[in-house]
Amino acid sequence: MKVLCRRLLLSFLTFSWLALGSAWAATENAVGLALEIDNGKGVPLQVKAGQTFYINQIDFRVHSKANRDEEVTGLAKKGMLAGLSWANVRMEQEFVDLPNPDGSRTRRRFYSGADWMRQPARFSITPVDAAGKAIAAAVSVEVGFDKGKPNRETMFIDRFRAIQWAYDCKSETDCSKARKFEEEALVELRNSRHPEQTLRLPAETAALQVRWSLTPAATYTIPVKPVNAPQFGYGYKIAIETLTPPRADGTYAAGSAITFRLSQLDGDGKRLHAQGHLPTYNDFLAGRAPAGLQYYRGFSEPAAAWYRRKHRERMLMAQIIGPTQALQPIRSLVRLEDFLGKNVTQIVAKPERDGLYGEFQLFPPSNDLFGGAFDPKHAGWAAPVTDQFTFSVPANAQPGTYLVTVKGRRVYLGEDIPTSETIEVQIGTTQHSEPRLTVGNCTNCHKDGGELSKLLHGNGNLAACNACHAPLTIEPDNEAYVRIHFIHSRSERFTAPLDQCSACHRDNESIQRASKAACLSCHPSYPTKHVEKFGPLKSIYIGGGLDSFQQCGEKCHTDHPGSGF
Ligand code: HEC
Ligand code: HEC
Ligand code: HEC
Ligand code: HEC
Repeated sequence: MKVLCRRLLLSFLTFSWLALGSAWAATENAVGLALEIDNGKGVPLQVKAGQTFYINQIDFRVHSKANRDEEVTGLAKKGMLAGLSWANVRMEQEFVDLPNPDGSRTRRRFYSGADWMRQPARFSITPVDAAGKAIAAAVSVEVGFDKGKPNRETMFIDRFRAIQWAYDCKSETDCSKARKFEEEALVELRNSRHPEQTLRLPAETAALQVRWSLTPAATYTIPVKPVNAPQFGYGYKIAIETLTPPRADGTYAAGSAITFRLSQLDGDGKRLHAQGHLPTYNDFLAGRAPAGLQYYRGFSEPAAAWYRRKHRERMLMAQIIGPTQALQPIRSLVRLEDFLGKNVTQIVAKPERDGLYGEFQLFPPSNDLFGGAFDPKHAGWAAPVTDQFTFSVPANAQPGTYLVTVKGRRVYLGEDIPTSETIEVQIGTTQHSEPRLTVGNCTNCHKDGGELSKLLHGNGNLAACNACHAPLTIEPDNEAYVRIHFIHSRSERFTAPLDQCSACHRDNESIQRASKAACLSCHPSYPTKHVEKFGPLKSIYIGGGLDSFQQCGEKCHTDHPGSGF
């Protein structure tokens, strides 16, 4: 009897271990699915047959045109979202940086914080067969801001917004005669905290049915087609190789041009493009890049920092920055002319001007990519794109360690993920130099699905941000700290007190370089005396115009109330 019991117990234990083991294996191999629903219609998906998934991204959008300035009341009064509570909504506005071709301007009004945007709610996703019958268990994605329980939401990124577009304003101060309006509501959910909540798709799956508890009458159907034995695997990696050989001691001399090669691979290390070539921009636009490699999408889908779908901009881009001991933000503006000229790369930081060296390149190179957009024949979009890029280290580059980073995105069989890769090169010395970071502590919050190595462009290396994020005349908010201050100050999900600079900053010295860009990326206003002296506020991101990166004065703000220092 005793023996039997022990046997039973033993086999029970073995059994549960096995079960647990396979659950772990399933989670490890599960692939994050990205879903898109546009005006109630699911965007069709192809997925690998037999694969286990979890829900990692939902992009939901409702939109309609209007011919009068009615804010976003069109959405509140009719259509799918009619009847939801818009109480407590906040609004701030920013014009699109560049004028339209006819000289008119586009105004964007961003709305957030409305009751329906914060209300606890649930998306549930059910696999159905061709007859619409449920054939596997549903999974749910919990959303909704709940102050007491900041982590109740399934996703790390939960952005609920509405935007009113006014496309034909006479100027930045006059939209009174505008007639072309668009209103849109956007739900942007990404980066699951619960990849263990897997979704099994039986072979007969024909669609995913999505329900959202705030629109109980509606069912959103996403057609699904399983693909047997797809050509490529899931996952995405970038490899960077240095083609220019270093000197005998492994270093490069200041003044040398160094050529690199990037390779994009799937999770098993299989190449996603032939060595030597990347898809042309036209191949990408026409869907002839079968491995799902992505390029910049800003011409077809607008993005706005924090407010609108930056994860769908999907630029492929490389940078070099250094030396690491001299790291600091780049405050010199990159001009539109630099993007359209003959140069393939953009030199964004010069040692004599910025205290460090930085250079970046877009793929396709900006003169083809942006030059191609301005040219009615789009010749640049047909140009071959090589996988090599060359950075020309200036002769006055300081000795030390330099970082070379490539970031990209891949969208393949339902998976939509970024990646970044950084390698080091030694310039002028064999001595390795350590990055001088004035901020840190990011991992206190960026964990459990929200790691910086998984969000946005998959870059967790804080020393490798600033060259790609030099301010641009056509997008001054591209500066990294502008975006970081902006996103965390607008988010209700930032759990530290916002005036406590020490949540990110390491010392008081690092918050002393006051500028419109540094302070007004958090503050929506400043005192009347400042308005008189420094001008009115023009931008929710950088405060003023292109002067915003200049230091206000040597010693005007040496500390900050509540900073924690
Ligand atoms: C190789 C170039 C590159 C590097 C390196 C890089 N970024 Fe970016 N970043 C971009 C591009 C391009 C975008 C616009 C979106 C896109 O195309 O992915 C972007 C977008 C962003 C945004 C806007 C997010 C939003 O939701 O509005 C933030 C914030 C940001 N980056 C922060 C960082 C930080 C922090 C680092 C360093 C850890 C970094 N970036 C490194 C190129 C880069
Ligand atoms: C107190 C918690 C906290 C700290 C500290 C923190 N973050 Fe965040 N971060 C968040 C939250 C929450 C979000 C999501 C905001 C939202 O979308 O509403 C976020 C969003 C971001 C994003 C946007 C990602 C995307 O996909 O759009 C970037 C980039 C980022 N943080 C970088 C940083 C960096 C760099 C640091 C350190 C210097 C940092 N964060 C420190 C909580 C934090
Ligand atoms: C969510 C993280 C975060 C918080 C919170 C934060 N900062 Fe920053 N801040 C940054 C990052 C990242 C940088 C860029 C650091 C770098 O690249 O060297 C920065 C840079 C700055 C700069 C330097 C600008 C320049 O041109 O060099 C100032 C000034 C600044 N922050 C002020 C503040 C103040 C004041 C507070 C508190 C009221 C604060 N920050 C809170 C992330 C943060
Ligand atoms: C990370 C966001 C953030 C940044 C960056 C930031 N602040 Fe603040 N600041 C706050 C918050 C939050 C408060 C407290 C609430 C309030 O007064 O708005 C505050 C308060 C203040 C106050 C006190 C206001 C009062 O009436 O008591 C001053 C002055 C101030 N900030 C100036 C600055 C200056 C100058 C900079 C740039 C060097 C700056 N802030 C950068 C978030 C920020």
